[in-house]
Amino acid sequence: MRILLLGGTTEASNLAAALAARGMDAVFSYAGRTAQPVAQPLPTRVGGFGGVAGLSAYIRAQGITHIIDATHPFAAQISRNALEASHNCGIPLLVLERQPWGAIQGDDWQHVPDIGGAVAALPDAPARVFLAIGKQNLAPFAAKPQHFYLLRLVDRPSALLLANATAIIARGPFDVAGDSALLQANAITHIVAKNAGGSGAEAKLVAARALGVTVILIDRPVLPPRHVVGSVTEVLAWLGHSAERGV
Ligand SMILES: NC(=O)c1ccc[n+]([C@@H]2O[C@H](COP(=O)([O-])OP(=O)(O)OC[C@H]3O[C@@H](n4cnc5c(N)ncnc54)[C@H](OP(=O)(O)O)[C@@H]3O)[C@@H](O)[C@H]2O)c1
Repeated sequence: MRILLLGGTTEASNLAAALAARGMDAVFSYAGRTAQPVAQPLPTRVGGFGGVAGLSAYIRAQGITHIIDATHPFAAQISRNALEASHNCGIPLLVLERQPWGAIQGDDWQHVPDIGGAVAALPDAPARVFLAIGKQNLAPFAAKPQHFYLLRLVDRPSALLLANATAIIARGPFDVAGDSALLQANAITHIVAKNAGGSGAEAKLVAARALGVTVILIDRPVLPPRHVVGSVTEVLAWLGHSAERGV
């Protein structure tokens, strides 16, 4: 068994620790989006494979027998590629993915299907928007220049793309006290976020609930049916390892 673990999430890092603790043969793969990715206890490669053909060639050359897609729920391209490459190479693929967030009483959430929907959902009157969507897909918000945009990014950007914007540099997980203070200090009226799920990025939604801030939540991209599990324990069971064994 030789596993290819597609990462870039907290879940992938947790799984990497579990595989390493069991001495399993696995390669961790990063896209290379951040300057200093979290170090992993597994052999690690960085960068795109070159589409489905490149990924299929990599799988064959490396003798990969299992793919685990633990990428972010919005990283749709690599997930489609991994599924297609698994079919090409005749090897199984498992997806490790968090449950999406759901609104509870007190939430003021507006669901939109994509980035364009989020731009359209912002009001016409000037607002103060926490754009919590990372560094990709900022350009469409230039269509609403009347708003102030607060960005939170892992790496300092060379340019902000938006005229009326401020960036803070920080890496999650975030907590409710910190995110409440951030929303208040910047007088935020709206948050735009992806429905990533998980706990590390949820603090802003809890803070928004208490402060009455409107959340514009982008739905996850729709992907073909795949075998999806929600925990490291389930991945280990799929690989034929119990959660306790080998620690
Ligand atoms: N999208 C988000 O909101 C988000 C948030 C947090 C973390 N991330 C992480 O950031 C990475 C990039 O996300 P994205 O939305 O840009 O992905 P994407 O649009 O699905 O992928 C674009 C291309 O990046 C390469 N790639 C992506 N993930 C890779 C991985 N783990 N290992 C090797 N190559 C990878 C592939 O290039 P080739 O076609 O050349 O193979 C892929 O076709 C992902 O690993 C994801 O887990 C994404």
